Formats: sequence, C-alpha cells, structure tokens
Amino acid sequence: MQICRSVADCRAAIAALRAKGKTIGMVPTMGFLHDGHMSLVETAQTHTDAVAVSIFVNPSQFGETADLDAYPRDENRDLEMLENAGVAVVFIPEVETMYPSGDETIVETTRMANMLHGLVRPGHFRGVTTVVARLFNIVQPDVAVFGEKDYQQLQVIKRMVADLHMPLTIIGAPTVREADGLAMSSRNVRLTPEDRTAALILSQSLTAAEATATGATVADLHKVIADTVATEPRATLKGLDIVEAETLNTIDGPLHGPTAIMISVAFGDILLIDQRVVTP
Ligand code: PAF
Repeated sequence: MQICRSVADCRAAIAALRAKGKTIGMVPTMGFLHDGHMSLVETAQTHTDAVAVSIFVNPSQFGETADLDAYPRDENRDLEMLENAGVAVVFIPEVETMYPSGDETIVETTRMANMLHGLVRPGHFRGVTTVVARLFNIVQPDVAVFGEKDYQQLQVIKRMVADLHMPLTIIGAPTVREADGLAMSSRNVRLTPEDRTAALILSQSLTAAEATATGATVADLHKVIADTVATEPRATLKGLDIVEAETLNTIDGPLHGPTAIMISVAFGDILLIDQRVVTP
C-alpha cells in the first residue's frame, strides 16, 4: 500500500497502477474509519482493480472550528485497516495541499446544497463538493463510492459529476447496519446502553413508513414516523424530510415514484441519522 501526502506522489502512484492496465476506484473519507467505510472500500474493490482512499478532515465543510477540532483522528489505526483490506493507495494531504494559499475556486450545486440539511448547515455541501472535486482531479478515479446513509451528499455529488461532465461513475453503497438494524456510525459508541436500545426506533420508524407507502401522501408518512418515534420516550425527532429520491424536490400529495425518507433523531446531545428510499 502506497501512502502519499503530496499531489505529485499520489499522481505517480495512480499512474503506476494505470500503466499496469488497472482501473481505479476511490473512497473519499475523513478518517477514523469504521466498518461502514470498509464496506465502501469493498464495493469499490468489486468494481475496479485498485482502490485509492483519501483521508482528509475537510475544514471547509465544518461550520464551527470547535467541531473541526473535536473531529476524531487515528491515522495509524486507519492505515492498518486499509492495509488489511488490500487498499492500493492512501492519499493523506495537508490542508495547504487541498487549499493552497490564494485559492479562489469553489464548486457548488446551487439548489441541492441549500435545501434540507444544507439549510441547517450553511456552506456544508459547498465544502463537500469543492473538496471532492479537487480530490477527483488529483486521483482521477474511474469509480467513486459514497454511502447512502449521507443521502443528500450522495445526490449532490452525483449532480456535480453529471453537471461538470466528470469522467467517472458514482456508486451509492447501502448503509451498513448492526445486527439489530441500527445504522453504523462513529457516534453509536457514545450512546448509553439504554439509548443504544432506544436508537432502534430510527430503523423501526422507517420500516413502519415503508409498510404504508403505497397510496400514501407525504403527510401520512410524516404522521407514521412522528407517531412511531413518539413511542420511544428517550428519542426526540429532530428532522424529517420526505422528497423525490433523485432530485430531492418536495412532493405534493401522494408519493409518485422513488421517495427518500431522511430522519434525524436525538438521544440527549447525540444526533443519529438514517434514511430509506421507498417506492409507492
Ligand atoms: O462523507 C464524508 O466523509 C465527507 O463528507 C467527504 C465525502 C469525505 C468529503 O470530505
């Protein structure tokens, strides 16, 4: 496994793989890897010959510096996991490499970035698309894999790639879950045992919504989810968006095609998210 910290080293590592005729998959990450990330790596490996993973805690997608400073990091552990998974190249740039002094260019999906989660985190998706576009230009992968768990991010990146005619395919990988259905997240370890049990309410409410999707309106699904979450006293429903799965447009009246349901639920100060695409 080649560990690269400069653009030149990363390009040389990728060029050497290309020279052997290998196709390149990419998984952009912010490090502190867990099984969810490793499943993205596995997906990339099933579609390409060699996989590059980037580890970069991207300052431009964080609202508050405190959040950025508190973001967990463990480079040695990450590298061990990637080595064991058979990753070919790891790119670990410094902030100055990704954002050289005097840089001016940003990439933004104007509509999709400023709706749903983008409304509560202004500038977040602009930061994501800007860094992902820069990473794609450095690595130039054939395929890049992102988790469906961050559903809006996945759609924003697909839109950017289509709009800018970037020559790669974006693949969305299904959310990896614990045996009982809880979506994997680095935050799960912070839950108390009681909240960990209560957190099943996220997937249960999505299952309840899915079961009633046929012929339902958005208002019906809102009610099913709100009522289900309300049965769990430890849980507070913080966010619920039910939108067209591909465009993220709002839906008036009955569902009329693939529909994304995105929820966020708080347990004390820990916010968990989950999502499901349902077809009415
Ligand atoms: O999903 C993430 O970890 C980040 O948003 C990404 C895609 C690596 C960009 O910094």
